[in-house]
Amino acid sequence: MHGRTQAGTPRRVTDPSSQDAPKDAGGLPARAAALDLLTAALSGRSGMDEGLSHPALAALDGRDRAFARALVMATLRHLGPIDAALQAKVRKPPPDKVVQILRLGLAQAFVLNTPAHAAVTTSVDLVARDRGLQMFKGLVNAVLRGLLREPPALDDADLLAPSWLYARWRAAFGAGEARAIAAAIAGEPATDLSLKDLARGAELAAALEAAVLPGGTLRTERRGDISTWPGFAEGAWWVQDAAAAVPARLLAVQPGQSALDMCAAPGGKTLQLAAAGAQVTALDRSASRLKRVAENLARTALTAEVVAADAAAWRDPRTFDAVLLDAPCSATGTFRRHPDVLWAARPSDVAGLAAVQSKLLDAAARRTRPGGRLVYCVCSLEPEEGEGQVAAFLGRNPGVGLDPIGEGEGGAPAASLRADGTLRILPQHLEGGLDGFYVARLRKT
Ligand SMILES: C[S@@+](CC[C@H](N)C(=O)[O-])C[C@H]1O[C@@H](n2cnc3c(N)ncnc32)[C@H](O)[C@@H]1O
Repeated sequence: MHGRTQAGTPRRVTDPSSQDAPKDAGGLPARAAALDLLTAALSGRSGMDEGLSHPALAALDGRDRAFARALVMATLRHLGPIDAALQAKVRKPPPDKVVQILRLGLAQAFVLNTPAHAAVTTSVDLVARDRGLQMFKGLVNAVLRGLLREPPALDDADLLAPSWLYARWRAAFGAGEARAIAAAIAGEPATDLSLKDLARGAELAAALEAAVLPGGTLRTERRGDISTWPGFAEGAWWVQDAAAAVPARLLAVQPGQSALDMCAAPGGKTLQLAAAGAQVTALDRSASRLKRVAENLARTALTAEVVAADAAAWRDPRTFDAVLLDAPCSATGTFRRHPDVLWAARPSDVAGLAAVQSKLLDAAARRTRPGGRLVYCVCSLEPEEGEGQVAAFLGRNPGVGLDPIGEGEGGAPAASLRADGTLRILPQHLEGGLDGFYVARLRKT
């Protein structure tokens, strides 16, 4: 549990995702799967993406799987306030597994609105399954029943983010912006889609009950299996957050131009560049992640040269008209879809990743032909990975300058444009939210 006090008006929270998920499904197996998934996500062993293919989930039917997934997401989206509520009730922290069971119990009762008796009994049963934890059955029962009598507030923005990250956001963006960022943690985002052919925007928006956002992204509140949605099988679109779609657009590649996507997998930006008509080389260090790029290219019938290599050490003589570096980062800006990143991240990660980014940025500059464009981006809210990274890069690369981004260019919200012509996209910059990103466009002279 995290060391914070509880504040706010006690009331139940309803996660919009819970409106589609069964309120109480599967009894113990679904909760046991949720426990495994939550434990893995919080240990940083697997992100939610990988976790969703966890063997414990595979054994469940569709309804139970939806419940287990919704339960873990609801827990992660309210983890700070959940822990504050538990801390007020439990003096000596019990073993980690009991803490996870209590967290899941609270999320069931107060976010998913699972019937109280089911939330309590199944939590006690989960503890009872572990012979070494028998002595904690009474504690789990008493804590959950106690909290059901005095429902805690689970949507206090000041508690939603880990305290160290919240302090960093306050220092970087000010208290008001930091609070707005944190408030976005609790909400379930809509699904954003990038189109292969922008001319089909109106037709596909109607078929998908979607809104068309600036830049052409479609936003739909649909839920469920995307492979059954109109246009998926024919490869007319791919899932890509509205913010993630901005950087590739800023390269404004023309048909036939050469483009290098240096950290390409799973391939959202490669698809955008290929759909714009560029001759794309998609590079990534991870051969397994590149399989996703190949699958995405096949489904959308787009083409790119796919290369597995370390972008900093890639032995290839070519330079490119356009280079995109979507660098590996702490990914703190993606918490709307991956709330686990906030809780798995460690302060030391940011410094380590910043060192990798600076090496990759230098390599990206070498790959850009004179007069060519280079877009650097990270889905991170941490200035060391964004503003700081580009300032240091410009200091050591006099042959490269900022190519300022214009207002609204690439579909970026006006509020995201900084005075120097780079973008600091914050989740609150678009109604309904978007991922946090930093984007800079550079030109080699
Ligand atoms: C933020 S993700 C890229 C997302 C991708 N651009 C997209 O839009 O779908 C970062 C990627 O960088 C890759 N990566 C990390 N270090 C690398 C390196 N030294 N060379 C090449 N790729 C690297 C990781 O495997 C990961 O796929």
